[in-house]
Amino acid sequence: MNHKVIEIAGLKKTFDGKQILKNINFSVFENENLVLLGRSGEGKSVTIKCIIGLLEQDEGSVKIYGEEVLDMNQSRLKEMRTKTGFLFQGAALYDSMTVRENLAFPLTRVLKIRNRQDVEKRIIEALDAVGLSDAINKMPSDLSGGMRKRIGLARTIIVKPKIILFDEPTTGLDPISSREICDLIMEIKRKYRTSSIIITHDMECARITADRIIVIHEGECIAEGTFEELEKSTDPQIHPFFNWMGDP
Ligand SMILES: Nc1ncnc2c1ncn2[C@@H]1O[C@H](COP(=O)(O)OP(=O)(O)OP(=O)(O)O)[C@@H](O)[C@H]1O
Ligand SMILES: [Mg+2]
Repeated sequence: MNHKVIEIAGLKKTFDGKQILKNINFSVFENENLVLLGRSGEGKSVTIKCIIGLLEQDEGSVKIYGEEVLDMNQSRLKEMRTKTGFLFQGAALYDSMTVRENLAFPLTRVLKIRNRQDVEKRIIEALDAVGLSDAINKMPSDLSGGMRKRIGLARTIIVKPKIILFDEPTTGLDPISSREICDLIMEIKRKYRTSSIIITHDMECARITADRIIVIHEGECIAEGTFEELEKSTDPQIHPFFNWMGDP
């Protein structure tokens, strides 16, 4: 676990005169799950959008496999994005397409795979991985929220990314579906040896998935450690995350 897959240093970003990211520094190592904690509006989504070049930082460096994202040209950026899965907050499927068509999309449009049998094989594999083989001909509107999240996850892993950025993968799900998603995140890590950043407000999800946690507060990383380490913290900015059920 020693290779740095993602390295962020001195990241700064201001929107409309308000500095959201003041000084973000962290790395993600090979085959590591890094969980980002922070209150709403702290800039967690902004941070991971800078990683895949959807947003440009004002200052600081973001490197993927040692390569500066800002220095990538369009074709390099595209190539990098095919190796980096991104499960957006509220991951939307294409409503007018079946599950099969939703999953075929990244294969035919992004990876330009032309062989229909190859495409079908990978769709079946990805659906199998998320336990939803039966849903292949369904429309997204016929699926529950938890199933849609799992299809979103299947669409993310179908391109076999080495890095996956999960933005609130369990938000809006019941505890059992959330647990299933977290278990899937772990299974994907084991099976494909991925490195991931997981943004979550779901502490059960953090407990299950995190090798390491970073807490972001007022634009800076204020704490780093394992779940067990941070759980013991008495810092007023950290403690409440781990005691969301309320203290006696
Ligand atoms: N493209 C943008 N243009 C202007 N402001 C933006 C943009 N993207 C994000 N912001 C602002 O940056 C701040 C941080 O947003 P961000 O979405 O990163 O928060 P977050 O930590 O992910 O919060 P949440 O936990 O609610 O998802 C917010 O105030 C948001 O309004
Ligand atoms: Mg967010």
